[in-house]
Amino acid sequence: MVGPVPFQLEGDILSVLDQRHLPHRVIYRKARNAFDVARLIRKMVVRGAPMIAIVSAYGLYLQALRNRRNLRKGWEALKNSRPTAVNLHNVLREVFPLVESNVPAKDLLEFARTVENRERRINEAIGRWGVSLFERPLRVLTYCNTGMWATIYPGTALGIIRFAHRKKLVRHVYVPETSPYMQGSRLTAYEMQLEGISYSVIPDNHIPFVMERGMVDIAIVGADRITSDNYVFNKIGTLSVALAAKRFGIPFVVAAPSTTFQNAPYSSDIPIEKRDDVPREDYLYYAFDITPPDLIYAIVSEEGIRKVTSPDL
Ligand code: MRU
Repeated sequence: MVGPVPFQLEGDILSVLDQRHLPHRVIYRKARNAFDVARLIRKMVVRGAPMIAIVSAYGLYLQALRNRRNLRKGWEALKNSRPTAVNLHNVLREVFPLVESNVPAKDLLEFARTVENRERRINEAIGRWGVSLFERPLRVLTYCNTGMWATIYPGTALGIIRFAHRKKLVRHVYVPETSPYMQGSRLTAYEMQLEGISYSVIPDNHIPFVMERGMVDIAIVGADRITSDNYVFNKIGTLSVALAAKRFGIPFVVAAPSTTFQNAPYSSDIPIEKRDDVPREDYLYYAFDITPPDLIYAIVSEEGIRKVTSPDL
């Protein structure tokens, strides 16, 4: 079973799956232009680094179809929707010449389809490469959600797990809840069910303990931005996974498409989102943290597996 599609273009309307309600309810929100798409991204209706880039490309098509004069403004609204994940900004840079020239709307539709299909092919390649990390059936710990709603089917880190499972190389998957939005317990757990993979949801504070107990063989996570010197920006809590993995001699692997790479080294002025939809005024919610290269065993992209460090395993 595959599960609800992340979005669907129906004529001049983009129906976007409201991921905030999964797995309990399947609701689609309608976007009619780039501003609608930007709002859905800001509100976390649609999330996941590659997915927000894909739906943004469709948003620009709708904008060109309806009101071309506001195309540049729509592009800016999308640019301001979420600053940390770099896929969105890479795609917006790529499409900029089309936004600035007077191309017909159908060219923007073609661009959006190209972006979507490219990501799908990339994820399939990541899955195929990633399976080679499984020399025997392994117990995996993943983090957040990197599957069909965050990226595009089959997913990045989750795509590797999916492909390895089909080869009977996954013994069990530990799925941290991923507070505060619970992308793990709501989305990854749901994808595990749909795929028939054996899994347990764990509270985030169990991560070091399950590793200490010898219950995890490999940690595989996604990324929202990878710098040219291999600093990985990913969902807040990823750094705890990497630190614990290092402590207990478990390989920590990052899976991401090349569209998640930024062509520049780490710098402290890269924006880290803070969410303002906190339950109480005294809460502080960062959306991402940064894992330094010395904690990373390897990075898997469509180009292959690049060893970052060689920990004593
Ligand atoms: O804030 P989100 O849910 O958009 O977070 C982005 C992510 O989905 C994760 O950080 C993920 O691990 C990388 S994107 C596939």
